[in-house]
Amino acid sequence: MKHFLRVLTQFFVFLYCKCLWRTLKFMTRKVTGRCELQRICYNNKPGARRTLKIESSLQFSKSELLQSAVSVPPDSVEKAIDDIMTLKRINHDSNPQLGISLQASLLQIVGYRNLLMEVEKLRREPYDSENSEHEEMLLKLWKTLRPDTPLTGRVSKQWCEIGFQGSDPKTDFRGMGLLGLHNLLYFAEHDKTTALQVLHDSLQPRQSKMSKVEWEKKKLDKAIGYSFAIVGINITDLAYSLLVSGAMKTHLYNVAPEMPSLMHFQQTFCYLMHEFHKFWIEQDPCDIMEFNRIRNKFHRRVLKQLNNPNMALCPHFSASDLHLVNL
Ligand SMILES: *[C@@H]1O[C@H](CO)[C@@H](O)[C@H](O)[C@H]1NC(C)=O
Repeated sequence: MKHFLRVLTQFFVFLYCKCLWRTLKFMTRKVTGRCELQRICYNNKPGARRTLKIESSLQFSKSELLQSAVSVPPDSVEKAIDDIMTLKRINHDSNPQLGISLQASLLQIVGYRNLLMEVEKLRREPYDSENSEHEEMLLKLWKTLRPDTPLTGRVSKQWCEIGFQGSDPKTDFRGMGLLGLHNLLYFAEHDKTTALQVLHDSLQPRQSKMSKVEWEKKKLDKAIGYSFAIVGINITDLAYSLLVSGAMKTHLYNVAPEMPSLMHFQQTFCYLMHEFHKFWIEQDPCDIMEFNRIRNKFHRRVLKQLNNPNMALCPHFSASDLHLVNL
């Protein structure tokens, strides 16, 4: 009974708040002569702050037309904007900038959804050693990371040198499918200097802060860095979960002026690899058993950064190529 009353009270409080909110929205519109979407565009510079507000305004609107705008295909964005302007009785000609702003934000919103589907498709595609495209990508990864050492065979212990677990990498892709391979290859090809540096460091025995005597006493001289490729696949998992949870919106809405694409996702991966590497060294782990703890801590740190709507996880190598907005 007590529980029932509590639920009932909560329900009425909810109704009351909702009603109050609608009234407030209605009054503001009457006073300013502008609808919520217009106010958001006028009061916020382009970027995540604006697009996130537009996204929630559309999603929680009571009009079905507005609600469905966030999931139109990219080539219907223009029409969706026209429909919204008509519905809201906003004159296109006297508000040309508004249409442009709304369109840019809506492209980001539907682009994010598209990117999510594209990434999901790659993640679900298993690595297939019968598929020549997959095999070519894998061999390219080797050539990029080990340009001076030819592979002795497709199946070879050498794969361990770039951080796979055994003599055939195909099984290592299980968790993330082709997405892991795409990311690793992008990192190796487009951010080569960093990738080679990270690989090089990951192969070094861990330099602990402990003194040499202590070090020898504990017989930790076998403690290693980490497996580059395996960690790359795991950081792919981290990037994927940031995308799925929506946390990556802040970053992508700030760096992609229109539709965020797979390239933006892969650049974010490069950034995360580099940052994770620095974090790992800072944390000074004894061995790989600490991976879980350090990864979780890193994940929390990135989530916290993304809570700030001005945040962009700028890949160091292309910060100047990205069209930064609202920074
Ligand atoms: C990455 O590591 C975390 C924590 O150690 C684990 O829960 C997760 O399943 C790993 N992901 C992949 C794809 O290996």
